[in-house]
Amino acid sequence: MLLLRRLVRAGRSWGTEARGLASGAPREAADAVVVGAGVVGLAAARALAMAGREVVVVEAAPSFGTGTSSRNSEVIHAGIYYPPRSLKARLCVRGKEMLYKYCEERGVAHKRISKLIVATGAAEVPKLDMLLRNAKENGVDDLQLMEGSEAMEMEPELRCLKALLSPSTGIIDSHSLMLSLLADAENLGTTISYNTSVISGHVGSNGLELHVCESKELQNYHEFVPTPHYARGCYFTLSQTKSPFSRLIYPLPEDGGIGVHVTLDLNGLVRFGPDVEWISDGGKDHVSCFLNKFDYSVNPNRCSVFYPVVRKYFPNLKDGSLEPGYSGIRPKLSGPGQPPSDFVIQGWDVHGVPGLVNLFGIESPGLTSSLAIAEHIVSKYL
Ligand SMILES: Cc1cc2nc3c(=O)[nH]c(=O)nc-3n(C[C@H](O)[C@H](O)[C@H](O)COP(=O)(O)OP(=O)(O)OC[C@H]3O[C@@H](n4cnc5c(N)ncnc54)[C@H](O)[C@@H]3O)c2cc1C
Ligand SMILES: *[C@@H]1O[C@H](CO)[C@@H](O)[C@H](O)[C@H]1NC(C)=O
Repeated sequence: MLLLRRLVRAGRSWGTEARGLASGAPREAADAVVVGAGVVGLAAARALAMAGREVVVVEAAPSFGTGTSSRNSEVIHAGIYYPPRSLKARLCVRGKEMLYKYCEERGVAHKRISKLIVATGAAEVPKLDMLLRNAKENGVDDLQLMEGSEAMEMEPELRCLKALLSPSTGIIDSHSLMLSLLADAENLGTTISYNTSVISGHVGSNGLELHVCESKELQNYHEFVPTPHYARGCYFTLSQTKSPFSRLIYPLPEDGGIGVHVTLDLNGLVRFGPDVEWISDGGKDHVSCFLNKFDYSVNPNRCSVFYPVVRKYFPNLKDGSLEPGYSGIRPKLSGPGQPPSDFVIQGWDVHGVPGLVNLFGIESPGLTSSLAIAEHIVSKYL
């Protein structure tokens, strides 16, 4: 049995027997098991099925894509910010191309609406040059540095000193994408087991063995999740119906995120966000985090943080016009003040277990990179 195990916001040491596992528990075999039906898991299942494997997807929740994959900015990122040659840089740029092509072929709703990264203070201007150079190294060579006046002509409500235009940035309906990936995988014989949590696994004589239980029984197992770092990102929407912008507008990056930006969904609805709120522990035990029992509510008072940062580039933002939207949780490998970490994809070459692939820290640009991550796993480890 070949196994692909992936835990995104949770991980545990491999090789420990689950307590309370009945010796006569029913067994099933599969060529490949994907743990988690988010966008990356579904893309991996599809790629494995296309490579001829019999795939089983195990998902703890009652449906696919209920975690991070449905709580993000739905932006197809260009690949501007990430350190050259990092997995994030390579898989984002490759993933973007694959994603646009896939969306066109399969009628997944998306739009190449472009984005402006704006410098609102003199000290920020050199940072745009740095981003421009970084992007070039990543193979993103279509950025245009422009004067504020030019950007403000494109976006009359905007105020900035200088701006970088990224023509290849776009937006996508992530739910449609996941539906389409799921349909592809299922058409190739993939089966999905919902409400099923992977609790442990070990290397057996016939390959890898995974121990699963019904999600509602997971509360019985403890202490198997190492300490990850979580950062909540909240979005606010604009009460006025007409969007002040026709492009995505991004300030310069901040610790833990890429800044409270303006995104538009495919219906033209504007949202501002996400901010960065580190969740120290949130009063949540690890099992609750693992079961996605995060507090996703948006505290209306957080808008006081949004007004000043948004007004730096959108001075006409009216008092009282921001309304709580939704929030998402970034599963991070680095904590507050630490430099951002890269995606971590571990195969046998790292941990020595044939057939086992672990993915950790698949935060942004994970949606953009999903198809390329799947391609990477299949080409390197299958
Ligand atoms: C606020 C925010 C904004 C973002 N914006 C963007 C963006 O604009 N563009 C972009 O490219 N990326 C963005 N991202 C990143 C992107 O959303 C993620 O990288 C991507 O969704 C990760 O997908 P995934 O499938 O790895 O994880 P998830 O969607 O979290 O899926 C993991 C699944 O695994 C299941 N699971 C976990 N453990 C187990 C287990 N033991 N047994 C069974 N099932 C299990 C969970 O229930 C879940 O369904 C953003 C992220 C956040 C938080
Ligand atoms: C999953 O569990 C939920 C709630 O416990 C239940 O409503 C749903 O029918 C279950 N779904 C499947 C596919 O078993």
